[in-house]
Amino acid sequence: MLKDEYAKPCNLNDILCIRGLCVWHPIRKFLTISGYVRALDDVNIDLEKGRILAIVGESGSGKTTLGKTILKIYQPTKGRIIYDGKDITHIKGKEIKWYRREVGYVQQDPYGALPPFMNIREILEEPLIIHEVPKSDRITRIRETLEEVKLIPVEDFINKYPHMLSGGQQQRVVIARALILRPKLIVADEPVSMLDASVRIEILTLFRELQKRRGLSIVYITHDLSTAKYFSDKIAVMYAGHVVEMAQTDKVLSKPMHPYTQSLIKAIPDPDPRNRTLFREVPPGEPPSLLNPPPGCRFHPRCPYAMDVCRREEPPIVEVNGVHLVKCWLYG
Ligand SMILES: Nc1ncnc2c1ncn2[C@@H]1O[C@H](COP(=O)(O)OP(=O)(O)OP(=O)(O)O)[C@@H](O)[C@H]1O
Ligand code: SF4
Ligand SMILES: [Mg+2]
Repeated sequence: MLKDEYAKPCNLNDILCIRGLCVWHPIRKFLTISGYVRALDDVNIDLEKGRILAIVGESGSGKTTLGKTILKIYQPTKGRIIYDGKDITHIKGKEIKWYRREVGYVQQDPYGALPPFMNIREILEEPLIIHEVPKSDRITRIRETLEEVKLIPVEDFINKYPHMLSGGQQQRVVIARALILRPKLIVADEPVSMLDASVRIEILTLFRELQKRRGLSIVYITHDLSTAKYFSDKIAVMYAGHVVEMAQTDKVLSKPMHPYTQSLIKAIPDPDPRNRTLFREVPPGEPPSLLNPPPGCRFHPRCPYAMDVCRREEPPIVEVNGVHLVKCWLYG
């Protein structure tokens, strides 16, 4: 199986099915394109309805680019995105407006994501106005959503401005704004990384409750495998623009197959102080430049198992036991 032959059909029960997705950011010098940052290359993802997929990987591995491409903020260079059975890769105009209702976005920095000059009611009303929700329904919808994200009593929050709230409360407003149009899918990009440890758990627990109550599907982007372990049903591990491993969370954590995933798991801090030094391994070296990625497997300069073929040829995507996707010559 060659790398561009991963052609597993999308499942009817998938909310998201991505095939062969490439996003190359052009680098411009004056008016000409001098090269491309290959932020995503041949990415394949399947996410079932009502499930949480964690996208994990080091800084610069392409997680945000993937999230923004799913959100239709970036346009794919190549490949297809199927949302709830519909190919949305090239949608435009009214279909984009429909898609904005279907998919909500939670950003990393809650304070930066909220307009400082609008109060909470105005922030939550804006998408309802854009999407022509009747005026008589808007305040009920705003109140219900604030209750859902546990900003209660609602009267204490609805007229406040973002700077009057704590970081955790601001992130609840961002989540409320993402939910207000009743989406089926949420893309949450590092939604807790800027919050205190105690608030992180509260926000992740809130996401879990919302997922169960509303049957939401969530793409949870994080560099922190330990929160992915606690929070996700499935994990996709990214390295230098590729998804190198994808499977159910327990499978990835108990039997990681890709050498990069193995090193990430060894680097999760162990809460037991007796084991702490044993779990500090990270792969030596730096991720490669995506302007000029190395030939073959992009992980080969850091991989302890690298073979000749790894330096020459890109590994294929292989399905092991029908459930575990891995991109590595050890299994090819
Ligand atoms: N708009 C852009 N134009 C050019 N290059 C970009 C653009 N956005 C991202 N990149 C580059 O694409 C690569 C992937 O970036 P991305 O932000 O997707 O990574 P990430 O995994 O989200 O990283 P982090 O964990 O730091 O947020 C990086 O090399 C980045 O510099
Ligand atoms: S393909 Fe080769 S270099 Fe890449 S992860 Fe597998 S063994 Fe290591
Ligand atoms: Mg990012």
